[in-house]
Amino acid sequence: MPAERRQRPRRILVTGGAGFIGSTLALECQRRWPFARIVVLDDFRSGDFRNLEGFRGDVVAASAAGIRDAGRFDLIFHLASITDTTVHDQLQMVRDNVEGFRDILALARESNARVVYASSAATYGQASARMDEETPARPANVYAFSKVVLDNLARHAAADGLRVTGVRYFNVYGPREQHKKAAASMIYQLYLQMKAGKRPRVFRPGDQKRDFVHVDDVVEGTLLAAAKGANTVYNLGSGKARSFNELIAILNKAMGTKLAPDYFSNPYGFYQEFTEADLTRSKRELGYVPAFPLEAGVPAYLKALKA
Ligand SMILES: NC(=O)c1ccc[n+]([C@@H]2O[C@H](COP(=O)([O-])OP(=O)(O)OC[C@H]3O[C@@H](n4cnc5c(N)ncnc54)[C@H](O)[C@@H]3O)[C@@H](O)[C@H]2O)c1
Repeated sequence: MPAERRQRPRRILVTGGAGFIGSTLALECQRRWPFARIVVLDDFRSGDFRNLEGFRGDVVAASAAGIRDAGRFDLIFHLASITDTTVHDQLQMVRDNVEGFRDILALARESNARVVYASSAATYGQASARMDEETPARPANVYAFSKVVLDNLARHAAADGLRVTGVRYFNVYGPREQHKKAAASMIYQLYLQMKAGKRPRVFRPGDQKRDFVHVDDVVEGTLLAAAKGANTVYNLGSGKARSFNELIAILNKAMGTKLAPDYFSNPYGFYQEFTEADLTRSKRELGYVPAFPLEAGVPAYLKALKA
């Protein structure tokens, strides 16, 4: 049997599949493998059923924690997570994010399934240089800390024989993120302000840089990681840090506006001033090539929002 057919998953679980990235991934799996049985598991704490328009699979409304007897799968994408990084309840953040993953790993062991789980660039914390996957974790908030624990659990599970791959997403933007409200990307927040004719509000001086990456790029990277099935973690970003001032200029151009930034002081004690993915490993081992620089991703996103 050709390798491609052997690898074709037949039963796929997507946790967090009613969310932004999870729904985009579930729908892409459905497009690629129309005969696969796809199950979305989501407790809808931040997800939205509208993200799953056109989805023909099953939806289980439940928490990832306690999901051990959910059936058998050969591929599990674990994206379920509290994603609002301003949640400071440490017990809730660590318990909900970590215990859900622990039970997903147990389910994978029973099913002999491959696992791909969502880690985050937040694990790198404050930095001034490009981050590669060996950069030591420096979680600066409890959300990032919970993701570091996921990375640790994954390493232990791999040492015990499970196939488990982490994908470290940077700042993802694109269609199906509207339900995230204040936790949606800065691109969406600034777009809403500018569409209402207001000046886009950013922290002074606006030269903080982030690696903004289109959701279609990270979904492609996640599927490449699943196909590879290696016991490691991969950065998935655009590979290029861009400032908020640059982003506003790109939004102005795409929207036909000339709105100057409205700067204000950063009220947070912790803030990632700089994120940029080193893509050496993702490119070399997965063949991951992001297709959307901001100049292409922002107009494509605005077109989708208008539609
Ligand atoms: N969007 C980004 O920029 C970004 C960056 C880094 C990492 N990530 C990670 O990617 C994944 C997806 O993020 P997203 O942006 O799509 O966020 P999202 O909030 O839209 O999706 C998360 C989904 O998980 C569900 N959920 C939360 N806890 C759950 C639980 N215990 N059991 C079952 N369902 C649960 C929510 O209802 C939601 O549908 C998350 O793991 C997140 O930490 C996202």
